[in-house]
Amino acid sequence: MIDYSRYDRVRAVRWEGDALHLLDQRRLPLEEVMIRCEDAQAVVAAIANLTVRGAPAIGIAAAYGVVLAARTKADAFGRVNADAIAGELATLRASRPTAVNLFWALNRMGEVLRAAGSVAALESAAIAIEREDLSANRRMGSLGAALIAPDSGVLTHCNTGSLATAGFGTALGVIRAGVAEGRISRVFHTETRPWLQGTRLTAWELLKDGIEAHLIADSAAAHLLASGKVQWVIVGADRIAANGDTANKIGTLQLAVLARHFGVRFMVVAPRSTVDMGTASGADIPIELRDPAEMLNFAGTRVAAEGVQALNPVFDVAPAELIDAIVTELGTITAPDRDRMAASFA
Ligand code: MRU
Repeated sequence: MIDYSRYDRVRAVRWEGDALHLLDQRRLPLEEVMIRCEDAQAVVAAIANLTVRGAPAIGIAAAYGVVLAARTKADAFGRVNADAIAGELATLRASRPTAVNLFWALNRMGEVLRAAGSVAALESAAIAIEREDLSANRRMGSLGAALIAPDSGVLTHCNTGSLATAGFGTALGVIRAGVAEGRISRVFHTETRPWLQGTRLTAWELLKDGIEAHLIADSAAAHLLASGKVQWVIVGADRIAANGDTANKIGTLQLAVLARHFGVRFMVVAPRSTVDMGTASGADIPIELRDPAEMLNFAGTRVAAEGVQALNPVFDVAPAELIDAIVTELGTITAPDRDRMAASFA
């Protein structure tokens, strides 16, 4: 049994009935500040500027954004017409392009809107999306940890913990479960440049849990994997295509290539809501390009000479053939390919 009071202590997305409260991930770990979103536009801004980030958390926040939009347009009986909030739904859809959980959540909310047309039904649906994500993460924690032999070392990338989800996390949930079950003896995580989700967020979560871990520079991954200290690279996902190709934080592809080269196994952990059977392969996944300023500045200070240009793609695609296992709450797919994906998610 996992002690969730130790291994799941943070909530980044909190619905408090009147407004959506988000832990501002731009300011962690130096400051723990909650941002209050009272309308859909504030939620759109929070998703776009990374106040809230991580594929499942983005979907959950967007679902509550729909509730906020509906509330402003509802009649005296709490009924709302789908056309009345079409504009807000469109801006929520445009807030970030890669994580499919955003579109999955908005589609699900759209169905409730058309079928029930009430603020109360939308609020129940958003709460259900959040609760289902937490229980999916706990299930994936057990399924993923079961793949890991005792005394293993793991490397993870980006932040996939409570901050990125409804709680517990996807890849970080597997690491938490693996540590709690005594299977994982060594935890390493990357800094995840340029936004430093690893340095700022994953390190903070692991510290809170009392899990001993070491931060490495992204560029130290090959050296670490060559050392034999790591048996599994474990990552989350922003979108898994119908053939198993997986988009995740920039740098995931190089870890997948390295893992195969050094005989280290590679696990992707993501809820069913991250699987996009409507996208045939990784080549069809839109890759977000963010402001080059994220690379040219460090902690708000310009570090590159004026005039330097940068290209800032923030996701890449690990091809299915480099993935040993995809873990969702429905089960584990080993050596994923189009047929195995179809058999699980048709
Ligand atoms: O740009 P971000 O921080 O939203 O990217 C997050 C990631 O890439 C995560 O690895 C992914 O969303 C999985 S989170 C459970």
